[in-house]
Amino acid sequence: MRTDKVDGKVTAERLKTWKGRREKIAALTAYDYPTARLLDEAGVDLLLVGDSLGMVILGYPDTTFVKLEEVVHHTRAVARGVRRSLLVADLPIGTYGDPGQALESARRLAAAGAEAVKLEGGQIQAEQIRAITAAGIPVVGHIGMLPQHVREEGGYRIKGKTEAESELLRREAEAVVAAGACGVVLELVTPVAAERITRAITIPTIGIGSGPNCDGQILVVHDLVGFFPWFTPKHVRPAGDVAGEIRKAASGFVEKLHRAGS
Ligand code: KIV
Repeated sequence: MRTDKVDGKVTAERLKTWKGRREKIAALTAYDYPTARLLDEAGVDLLLVGDSLGMVILGYPDTTFVKLEEVVHHTRAVARGVRRSLLVADLPIGTYGDPGQALESARRLAAAGAEAVKLEGGQIQAEQIRAITAAGIPVVGHIGMLPQHVREEGGYRIKGKTEAESELLRREAEAVVAAGACGVVLELVTPVAAERITRAITIPTIGIGSGPNCDGQILVVHDLVGFFPWFTPKHVRPAGDVAGEIRKAASGFVEKLHRAGS
């Protein structure tokens, strides 16, 4: 099915107009040229150079080890493969402590090819979001479970389970909207709270592990295609087995060489 959503370059402004559509915003992470090109050609609307690259590409235990230079490097590669999708890059931990630092970091990502940046936090990040958007770089917010705080939190826990927590999340989302963000990721938010936020705010919500009623969905591409078999989040049902294919091809290659040499 081709609709006006499928044709033409996705921009942050255009993304905002897709709020409330039955046709959802499809978003995936990408960290390299071939993957970005394949996902873009497949019609993925938004590609995120997420700091999840720390785990699935660089082998760190969590995202708190990721440096701005690493996201810049991968953003350049992804930018070479993108034509239609909106390219968003993550501001890693420690790179947006105040509005000035946030803007400087966002400018480095934009110079590498990012068309928008994403940062974690609600009200506490309002001034940072304002500073970046005022400079003409769109911002995607991120509330709910914040992976950059996984160590303080002691794990990846679901948010919004109580009425008070759900209400707090709604206020955080409103703060992100008021600061000028073009969209907001809801990570590991209960489906009820995610739906409530989605109905309450004027920009698209993009859920990850937050139920079906957000305006869009995002996944780490390695989880979707089965390319990180050592850990699969509960909310993902892999649609491929890339790890299995690599293992099969590599062991076939090894065996063939051994047979030929014996
Ligand atoms: O870093 C990342 O991949 C993300 C998504 C999981 C939303 O922030």
